Amino acid sequence: MSFRITYSVLDADLSQLHAEFDKALSAVRGKLGAEHPSFISGEPWRGGDLLDSRNPANQELLGRFHRTPLSEVDRVVRVSREAQKKWGATPWQERARILKRAADLISERRMELAAIMTLEVGKTRLESLGDVEESADLMRYYAGQLEEAEGFVKPLARLSPKEDTRSVLRPYGVFVVISPFNFPVALAAGMSAGVLLGGNTVILKPSEETPWCAEGLYQALHDAGLPPGVFQLVHGEGESLGAALVSHPGIDGVNFTGSQPVGMEIHRRLTAQSVRPCFLELGGKNPAIVCRDADLEAAIEGCYRSAFGLSGQKCSALSRIYVHEDLKRDFIAGLAEKARATRAADPSLASTYLGPVINDASVKRFERAVAEARQGGTVHAGGGRPQLDGALAQGHFVEATVVEVPHGHRLMRDELFLPFVGVTGFRTLDEALGMANDCIYGLTAGVFSRKPEDVEAFMDRAEAGVLYANRRTGATTGAWPGVQSFCGWKASGGSGKGGCGPYYVSQFMREQSQTRM
Ligand code: SER
Repeated sequence: MSFRITYSVLDADLSQLHAEFDKALSAVRGKLGAEHPSFISGEPWRGGDLLDSRNPANQELLGRFHRTPLSEVDRVVRVSREAQKKWGATPWQERARILKRAADLISERRMELAAIMTLEVGKTRLESLGDVEESADLMRYYAGQLEEAEGFVKPLARLSPKEDTRSVLRPYGVFVVISPFNFPVALAAGMSAGVLLGGNTVILKPSEETPWCAEGLYQALHDAGLPPGVFQLVHGEGESLGAALVSHPGIDGVNFTGSQPVGMEIHRRLTAQSVRPCFLELGGKNPAIVCRDADLEAAIEGCYRSAFGLSGQKCSALSRIYVHEDLKRDFIAGLAEKARATRAADPSLASTYLGPVINDASVKRFERAVAEARQGGTVHAGGGRPQLDGALAQGHFVEATVVEVPHGHRLMRDELFLPFVGVTGFRTLDEALGMANDCIYGLTAGVFSRKPEDVEAFMDRAEAGVLYANRRTGATTGAWPGVQSFCGWKASGGSGKGGCGPYYVSQFMREQSQTRM
């Protein structure tokens, strides 16, 4: 496949990048407070109650978005069904061309989109830029899958010379895509692109925390020439609008990324009436194992980045560390020192590594977790809320936190989605693997060891879809399109084939065997 990674942040001139970001940020700031429509049938739609999008760093009002009322859901689904007839019959080359054009537009607009994301999610500059660039790479990579498979038409064997049989992958129809706040362009783009390339139409309901980021994606797809109705953008809460969409008899499937309980509820609703495909990328409680002979400094760095990057709000984030008893004291001291040195700050500043968490519910979850850690273990770093001045005092900031609790503790079991990591000691690799696997989730996992046989045992026995060994740049995080498949095992996923991976697009198509005499 001719896919080429375009992650420019890796070798960028950082001062130029920050200057461009500053310019984009001030342009975006000029647009704050505006009203934004939903997009139905290719047209802006206004008339709903307003959903306010606010900056989690200081509560400033970013924009007011017209919610799509439940009374519009039937029409939205009807439009999508109608548009699908033509889109499904559009030659695959044309579908790939439009998606690649949208990827190019996202690349061109990357600074503006990243600036919006920093304001709307509280992501740091480089995390926001990475998200936008990942979106474009996902779209190109998935378009390449359609091209490489030449539209997924495959000649099969002949029973007689007079017969000609082909396996053809064909669209399902209409998909509801529900995307999360933490990768508000990348996941919305990747999940939608896979579905669209398969010839299906999309009704995107983004997280109610990130409507502005989703609008940027809508604009790119629209400007790339996607026909009206093929991709509609609706705004509203998951419990009301999301629930109405996934319960609608006129939809053919759902592609969802978010929490495990919500994913299970969506699956229940979608399959209550008939068998329909439901792709779920759910949470994680991702472990790292630090063996006795690990490179301690690399292990501390890798664990630090995975636990605290994006304030721990990645489904791939590291939240459990099993460290050999002989290393435990030094490891905890090193990790705690780095955590204490990481001051939460305004994410729009170039120097910030730790921004806010997304909302007040996250702050409350943090406070409860800290109280439980104090009762059942030791808090080695963090545990409080930083004192910030001015408008930032209104922000949802919490400290990077390292606790030591036993493996059986709730904090080593439940997904927290916070900059909060638990550490427990072990004596043998068997014991460590047992604890790492003793979890309902199975998304990502990491190991640090200089012994190849330990790494092989980990690769062989770890129950997770994405495994990393000795990765200083991220013990459990940092999957990139075409480089790591992002596939959840156990309660972390529903399809066994992940985003970013080589089998993604074909999942959104159903097979038909065609025999002609
Ligand atoms: N791709 C990101 C990671 O692997 C998001 O989940 O960390």
